[in-house]
Amino acid sequence: MANEAYLRPDDHLGGLVPEASITQTERRWFYVMAAMLGIMLAVVVLTGMTQMLHPTSNVETVDAKTLHLKGEFVENNLGVANNPDGSVSVRMIAQQYMFVPQCVKVPIDTPVHFRLTSADVTHGFFVGETNTNAMVVPGFVSQVTATFHRPGALKMPCDEYCGFGHHGMAARVEVVPKAEYASLPSDDRGICGPQ
Ligand code: CUA
Repeated sequence: MANEAYLRPDDHLGGLVPEASITQTERRWFYVMAAMLGIMLAVVVLTGMTQMLHPTSNVETVDAKTLHLKGEFVENNLGVANNPDGSVSVRMIAQQYMFVPQCVKVPIDTPVHFRLTSADVTHGFFVGETNTNAMVVPGFVSQVTATFHRPGALKMPCDEYCGFGHHGMAARVEVVPKAEYASLPSDDRGICGPQ
């Protein structure tokens, strides 16, 4: 047989692997898989506890078909709004292939509640240099809270593939000193326009 030329002295004859050897291999791989699962679970739990990295859990629904007509996400309610407790809320709509508004100014050292929803398909938003990251699913409001401790402009790209224009979809978050934020006209809504 031609195959015999390839058999080394310790190979199992005729290509038959003894059951014990199969069991041993399967057990070994079972332990490898169990270890991988354990490590991944530990990463989720530890980053959740020590770095506050959580999946969004805010289950709040909204009618994607009437976003522009009524409710929280009508045009003149988008942008930044001050809350009675001193925090601010940022309301944005994600749509192919832009965020509305494209840029918001938020005060430094202040809790910022991002509230986003989608007008069409699933998008994502990620505020650069922070752990602020959520999917934006049509029909739901995604809420994530962040506090920025450094002034400056941060890019906020869509990080969920949403179609051929996905790569160009990004907004901007400008973190400004409290005094500058307070000096904005009351009807300004913190909107700073595209760069
Ligand atoms: Cu929107 Cu990718």
